[in-house]
Amino acid sequence: AQILCLNGPNLNLLGTREPDKYGRDSLADIGARLSQQAQAAGHSLRLVQSNAEHVLIDAVQQAGADGAAFALVNPAGLTHTSVALRDALLAVQLPFIEVHLSKVHAREVFRQHSYFSDIAEGTITGLGAIGYELALTAALRRLDARPG
Ligand code: DQA
Repeated sequence: AQILCLNGPNLNLLGTREPDKYGRDSLADIGARLSQQAQAAGHSLRLVQSNAEHVLIDAVQQAGADGAAFALVNPAGLTHTSVALRDALLAVQLPFIEVHLSKVHAREVFRQHSYFSDIAEGTITGLGAIGYELALTAALRRLDARPG
């Protein structure tokens, strides 16, 4: 099955962006490991990053049209603002795990509300880049448990 890994604004700068909070791996590093992990399990991973909300919304709609089975979503700053990206995930009924590199709950108050957590299958936060791999492990387990 196809799995979407969706990344919001400024995550293109991973590796150099506030490395004390977000680590030293680039998004390409993370994507390469996820692709390998997905392929080893007989699935494929599509990595999308955009700084533009509408591009992320379009990617979710496209994933729905393509029959993607699952998503890993780090909405980045849009976590705390985007009703529209939330609505897109609900519209196409794409099950997803919310991932954050940093420990959002120990940061500014405005980061403590997410428009995604209540509709996500689960949330991983504060574990750095490995959080994506743990989320994919959980996603693969769910996909393999599907009937048929
Ligand atoms: C983030 C946390 C958000 O609050 C922040 O705006 C980001 C990254 C994370 O992965 O820790 O851009 O989603």
